[in-house]
Amino acid sequence: MSETASIKLGDKSYNLPVITGSEDESAIDISKLRDITGYITIDSGYKNTGATKSAITFLDGEKGILKYRGYSIEELASKSTFLEVAYLLIYGDLPTQVEIEKFQKDISRHTLVHEDMKKFFDGFPSKSHPMGQLSSLICSLSSFYPESLNSGQTAEEQNLTIIKLLAKMATVVSWIYKKSLGHPIVYPQNKLDYVTNFLNMTFGQRTEEIEIDPVVVSAMNVLLILHADHEQNCSTSTVRMVGSSECNLYASISAGISALWGPLHGGANQAVIEMLESIKADGGDTDKWINKAKDKNDSFRLMGFGHRVYKNFDPRANIIKKACDEVLEKLGVNDPILEIAKKLEAAALSDPYFVERKLYPNVDFYSGIIYRALGFPTDMFTVLFALGRLPGWIAQWKEMRENKEPIGRPRQIYVGEVNREFVEISKR
Ligand code: MLT
Repeated sequence: MSETASIKLGDKSYNLPVITGSEDESAIDISKLRDITGYITIDSGYKNTGATKSAITFLDGEKGILKYRGYSIEELASKSTFLEVAYLLIYGDLPTQVEIEKFQKDISRHTLVHEDMKKFFDGFPSKSHPMGQLSSLICSLSSFYPESLNSGQTAEEQNLTIIKLLAKMATVVSWIYKKSLGHPIVYPQNKLDYVTNFLNMTFGQRTEEIEIDPVVVSAMNVLLILHADHEQNCSTSTVRMVGSSECNLYASISAGISALWGPLHGGANQAVIEMLESIKADGGDTDKWINKAKDKNDSFRLMGFGHRVYKNFDPRANIIKKACDEVLEKLGVNDPILEIAKKLEAAALSDPYFVERKLYPNVDFYSGIIYRALGFPTDMFTVLFALGRLPGWIAQWKEMRENKEPIGRPRQIYVGEVNREFVEISKR
């Protein structure tokens, strides 16, 4: 017999169905609660509320487990490529050799963006934040590819929209970087694989194809894989919510990019480096700042430590730390900011204050360090997070559409004024 939950309201009792997922998570199904009781639930920030049933990503915050379509993040990061993982997330299975070659070829055919989009770049102020540019440019794709606006797209038409977005996002991200430098853009080299092509468009020159260190390509693949999806986080929930109104994919992803921009979400990796830079500017006394972080009367908090979902450690951080050490060693990076980072890391992993509060270095701490070592400016870090998260956003949007989920429309409890009589302004 299936489990039920009983609730007692006044002198009445009600039974509600319980559902259990494939990883033995359980939820009380309250979809009929208001109909049978007149009550709703309330859960600010949805920390105890499931928005959907999804087959894409599973994480266990207590055990530090993260899986994409049933594959552990550790295996995927060490044995797969970002493009393979994107295929896995979007279509549900790891591709065969034939499938991944076709996927890469399809993407290569769409890496160019409409030349008129370059006018947008000219319109942005030179110091405008890359995330604002990215959100605008990705939404503008719906103007250049109006077939994406048809909510009744066939599976083939929807897939073409998906391929175009995967292909063009890498080009747009690299062009945003080039604009920030005032440098000429570098066009895609379609003989290169997805990540190498992105790095060449980003760090290459118009006149020559640069040699990209395989350690950098490997680290970039790992970084993008680790950021590819993460259940119903803020930006993914935004993509699902906007997509639930049958809004086109480009605009839905643009909304997700805007949500990711926030310093409490994707902006955390930028905030990590800004914190390190402020400690350096203050003289680099890490002990002083560690004590400030521990002082309950001091508002300073360490950025890049702990996580709202992972209670003991962020499995992605363990993987990225290894890649971080490899990149720093291989590139021979000697950066005082990174020395400060290592002192904070050592404290967070040994000081009882941080250990007891599970304030361990998270994925944002190490990704900020690697991106800096690779030469990206700080305000590009969240854009790189978005590039990694793109296949996850697409997969979640596609799943929501395929499952014909209803438009998102949460309820509320009203706590404002009740009956007020209108008074003419002359008498107020
Ligand atoms: C993410 O990967 O989206 C971040 O860790 C935030 C989250 O999952 O809430």
